[in-house]
Amino acid sequence: MSHRKLNDPEHLHLLIDAMLLLSDELDLHSVLDKIVTTATELSGATYGALGILSEDRQSLSEFVTTGLTPAQESKMGPRPTGKGVLGLLTANPRPMRLDDVSKHKKSVGFPPHHPIMKSFLGVPVFVGDKIFGNLYLCDKKGADSFTQSDEDLVLSFAQAAGLAVEKARLHRRLRGLVLVEDRERIARDLHDTVIQRLFADGLALQALANSVSPPKAAERINQIVTDLDETIREIRSTIFAMQQLSSKDNPGNFRTEITSLIDEIAGNAGLDVEINITGSQDGLLSAKTKEHLMATTRELLTNVTKHAKADRVWVEINFDKPLVLKITDNGLGYSPRAKNKGFGLNNVAERAAILGGEFSINKVEEGGTEVKWMVND
Ligand SMILES: Nc1ncnc2c1ncn2[C@@H]1O[C@H](COP(=O)(O)OP(=O)(O)OP(=O)(O)O)[C@@H](O)[C@H]1O
Ligand SMILES: [Mg+2]
Repeated sequence: MSHRKLNDPEHLHLLIDAMLLLSDELDLHSVLDKIVTTATELSGATYGALGILSEDRQSLSEFVTTGLTPAQESKMGPRPTGKGVLGLLTANPRPMRLDDVSKHKKSVGFPPHHPIMKSFLGVPVFVGDKIFGNLYLCDKKGADSFTQSDEDLVLSFAQAAGLAVEKARLHRRLRGLVLVEDRERIARDLHDTVIQRLFADGLALQALANSVSPPKAAERINQIVTDLDETIREIRSTIFAMQQLSSKDNPGNFRTEITSLIDEIAGNAGLDVEINITGSQDGLLSAKTKEHLMATTRELLTNVTKHAKADRVWVEINFDKPLVLKITDNGLGYSPRAKNKGFGLNNVAERAAILGGEFSINKVEEGGTEVKWMVND
């Protein structure tokens, strides 16, 4: 632990104050700002910056600074990406002190309008065991260079900074999750309560329209029923949009997404549906396969509602290798003579072929149709 090296009580106090200052901050951007300003103060630097590494750790994706005037900042152009001396710390994440940064053999010089900086102290910041970014401090006030004790102090602070970043990230993720849950709950409520109630009201009104006498009144009531239907459709598409959003934020949610698609189509057509999902590979499916599976399910179920005259449908999905989708209805049964009537089944067959799989549709003995769609991901 690098703070054990700090034997000046004044330094320990400074460090503790700095850590406390960080510890109540939860917003990631504010945390980053505070890290830079505090490290700059602790070390007595004139300028400070925190360069945050990109995903591949090859360059800097963000550069948070302090010490520059807004005028200086706006003149300077694009932020550095971690070339020259700034990149050394990434390649070799250890503290580095220089008396004159521009004299270093890796120096690429300052860009136009950049203030000339001389003394330099660079310290890596880790989050967990991964390097997150680098603190760059320049121009020690009232001295020619930074000292070993400046380095120790900033290094200790960098540990606290890493923890604060981790905490802020966790906080951000948790808030995201709460949002997703809220959205899902609202979508469920809309579906289970609001739509059902509107639907029931619509039916009641329809019955009423048949029993009222002046034709004008019946007409008016029927108009209201039409409006209600339109409202239900609008709510359904809102639910759908909310679920799309949730699944984007929460990729593990594909089961919910496909289940609600099935429920929606079957529900709209008044079909009794039984869904049986097995297997565990759904988390590993590619976006492409998911899209093909969704579109295929939509088409096949729509066919049942359009052509089968069924009142029940069974949907089985096995998220395994291969992935299997089976849809069975208890309707009239598919006749091969119907082949090439539309585009739907051709598309479904093509989607299977694209994914190196196969597709079959058959009339079953007891009446009804069975469709099997099997692909590899
Ligand atoms: N579940 C089913 N039960 C009975 N017949 C079916 C069933 N699914 C498909 N069919 C028959 O197969 C034909 C071809 O289906 P396909 O999906 O290719 O075309 P479509 O649904 O008629 O039109 P499109 O899909 O282009 O809107 C249908 O017209 C229908 O006669
Ligand atoms: Mg079709």
